[in-house]
Amino acid sequence: MTARPLDRRLAVAPMLDWTDRHFRWLVRRITRHTLLYTEMVTTGALLHGDRERFLAFDEDEHPVALQLGGADPADLAACARLGAARGYDEINLNVGCPSDRVRHGRFGACLMAEPRLVADCVRAMRDAVDVPVTVKHRIGIDDLDSYDALCSFVGTVAEAGTDAFVVHARKAWLAGLSPKENRTVPPLRHDVVHQLKRDFPQLPIVVNGGIASLDAALEQLAHVDGVMIGRAAYHDPWLLAAADARVYGAAPGAATRDAVARELAAYVERQARNGVRPHCVTRHALGLYHGVPGARAWRRALAASGTSEFFTVSGAEAATEP
Ligand SMILES: Cc1cc2nc3c(=O)[nH]c(=O)nc-3n(C[C@H](O)[C@H](O)[C@H](O)COP(=O)(O)O)c2cc1C
Repeated sequence: MTARPLDRRLAVAPMLDWTDRHFRWLVRRITRHTLLYTEMVTTGALLHGDRERFLAFDEDEHPVALQLGGADPADLAACARLGAARGYDEINLNVGCPSDRVRHGRFGACLMAEPRLVADCVRAMRDAVDVPVTVKHRIGIDDLDSYDALCSFVGTVAEAGTDAFVVHARKAWLAGLSPKENRTVPPLRHDVVHQLKRDFPQLPIVVNGGIASLDAALEQLAHVDGVMIGRAAYHDPWLLAAADARVYGAAPGAATRDAVARELAAYVERQARNGVRPHCVTRHALGLYHGVPGARAWRRALAASGTSEFFTVSGAEAATEP
């Protein structure tokens, strides 16, 4: 089936426990065009768990991609179908997560050693849906870290019809390093991802890892098709405020942090009516005033967010724009 193209110049990375629908809602207040990703959802959770909880999202989160974790082509195809039917704009396969739990399930980064299986997974998903199917992976794992091995992986998986590759520009050590260490210890090699783009010019390649500002993202766009930002976007979501204008040449997103904070207050109240505790939403907004005067007062106000009254008392008012 033919996949609709997505503008992937800028994306916020999938992050377990962080990029849930409430964080994505917040980011969407700040940038209209940046592509958003869900947390990784395993095929087991989706096929046997509370499907609606894993798949629910706000209509105005679009464009939004569902990231799946799994290694069984039939299960992944079934989950991709569920995601596409629910309205996701892209289905992404996680081939980058190095956690023990994921490795013992034989998926995530360890799949880099099995390009043919990844190709089978992608093929099954591509046959099942008409939205793009993409793969997020590392530049290598353990001793399988040569550039040739990376090219062989990308070449094999591309043949299955992968619509884009998101490359976390560091290798992962599957034994010995925690997932957190695997995001800091192995050196960043953006140059390897740039080389990959030169060697596979026809493939959309998105670079990820250690990109902490819009300026840095724009520099990367000289080499690759897209940039994915993870931790920096979570800790300082306002860094995305200029993305619509500077990356997409569109009208700017939210005007001020205070405007976003006011919308957040209303959102918290709406969610509370559905039984969502304020903390589940506000914990994702701690970074909204990152680096500006009032940031501490804002965080303190959010920490006290047992009730939604805090906004009118001390939240948005306490934190002022620079
Ligand atoms: C808390 C946390 C959770 C993450 N969960 C996922 C995940 O579910 N799927 C995934 O592909 N990567 C996950 N990652 C990795 C990020 O997507 C990204 O590849 C990594 O943080 C490097 O990008 P950055 O330097 O911009 O943060 C996670 C990272 C963090 C910090």
